[in-house]
Amino acid sequence: MKDWNSRYAKAGTAPDTRLFGDQPSEYLREVMARSDFRPRSALCLADGDGRNGGWLAQQGLEVTAVDASTVATEHALAHDAARGRTVERIAADLADWTPPPGRAWDAVFLMYLQCEAAVRLRAARVAAAALAPGGWFVAEGFAPAGAGGRSLGPEDPDLLYEMNDFLDVLCGLEVVEALKGRIRVNDGVRHRGEARVVRLLLRRPETEA
Ligand SMILES: C[S@@+](CC[C@H](N)C(=O)[O-])C[C@H]1O[C@@H](n2cnc3c(N)ncnc32)[C@H](O)[C@@H]1O
Repeated sequence: MKDWNSRYAKAGTAPDTRLFGDQPSEYLREVMARSDFRPRSALCLADGDGRNGGWLAQQGLEVTAVDASTVATEHALAHDAARGRTVERIAADLADWTPPPGRAWDAVFLMYLQCEAAVRLRAARVAAAALAPGGWFVAEGFAPAGAGGRSLGPEDPDLLYEMNDFLDVLCGLEVVEALKGRIRVNDGVRHRGEARVVRLLLRRPETEA
């Protein structure tokens, strides 16, 4: 895992200094704007310094957030407190974190969890198992640029999102949207430019066969 603690430490906790900007990610906002998307609780995986989880809490959701970086988690709590938001924040490695038995959420957000594919897919699997019936799974991450192409995002291919790997691991969920394409990212100073991304919106059936 990259040294996320030192990267977040450099950002500090002053207003508007979050590593990936103060605004929630565009895709998360798009999904939240859907008329059929009405979660009351959310689990945010790899919430970093909290731009997404904090914003969801501001929209009235009960939010639990997990991130491996203790510094990011402290910063997120400071940003939450400064804005009067309450988010349950857990500093834990998604390589082995599992939701407590009996906990369930209406939505899981996995936005730009940047780690080895095996850990990312494990995190997706255990979080999906904690979805309430009818619950939503939302994910976004950098995809391979494709032959000759250029894209924002890590160079290590293991850190890039392959849509089919997610769909295989989450085969018990219905696919509402599975997109792969090029977008313009404008998330703080670190995520800015053209990127090829994967965006997924999946749903646990209300009743299972
Ligand atoms: C590119 S940042 C994105 C943060 C946040 N989702 C956002 O969009 O602002 C990647 C995040 O993944 C977290 N991360 C990387 N490996 C992790 C792991 N194994 N378990 C939990 N979090 C991890 C890092 O600490 C970092 O906060």
